[in-house]
Amino acid sequence: MSSPTERVSKARLSARVRIAPMTLDDIPAVMAIERASFPRPWPERAYRYELTENPNAYFIVAHLPITDAASPPSPWRKLAARLGLLTPAPNGPPLVVGFAGMWVQVGEAHIATIATHPDWRGRGIGQRILLALLREAQRRQAQTVTLEVRVSNLPAQRLYQKYGFREVGRRKAYYQDNREDALLMTITDFALPDYQARLDALAAALAEPAA
Ligand SMILES: CC(C)(COP(=O)(O)OP(=O)(O)OC[C@H]1O[C@@H](n2cnc3c(N)ncnc32)[C@H](O)[C@@H]1OP(=O)(O)O)[C@@H](O)C(=O)NCCC(=O)NCCS
Repeated sequence: MSSPTERVSKARLSARVRIAPMTLDDIPAVMAIERASFPRPWPERAYRYELTENPNAYFIVAHLPITDAASPPSPWRKLAARLGLLTPAPNGPPLVVGFAGMWVQVGEAHIATIATHPDWRGRGIGQRILLALLREAQRRQAQTVTLEVRVSNLPAQRLYQKYGFREVGRRKAYYQDNREDALLMTITDFALPDYQARLDALAAALAEPAA
């Protein structure tokens, strides 16, 4: 449970995040977050495929205007500098602080990946990214949303539960690196008006800018 002060600053930061379709130019920054976030990172060619060849894919990045990143934690500053993302110009290129991707097909949206850069977690960015996926799934008339998550990944499970995902099954030894089980989670009432109201309330709490 976060304090009122934390909630205010989270809302301020997450409201300044801009969600944009992922482009090929984003891939180096996405790969840096990917490698810092997952034990078995996707290869770069997987992102190239999703962006250029998969019509069912919807991949996005979360950008922070460079001015918001004036005092980022130092490891991130080093990384951003290495990627050429830090510039003294006030209107310089934005930082990529997170990303996600999903596939939408025959009424089902499947969230394939989502990550926030480790130095920017706990500031509402994951929620902004997830909300953007769910809004797009609604726009594409998905009836349900599914995903898999490691049984040990409690932060991600909490995020998903907050947005109405419920555990509906388990895939034994799903992850090849440590043979960990995956929980299969879905939002079963995704297309119902009650869920729409819940999503609107969560978006309002995050001070999501109007679409
Ligand atoms: C899961 C992840 C994307 C969350 O991103 P984030 O930007 O930190 O998320 P937010 O700040 O928006 O937090 C949203 C909610 O997630 C949950 N959460 C996030 N971090 C948490 C933590 N360390 N412990 C428990 N719950 C946590 C909380 O429910 C939180 O809501 P609250 O602030 O109202 O308590 C991030 O931890 C991440 O990138 N993890 C590594 C990659 C990964 O595991 N992806 C999921 C693969 S299935």
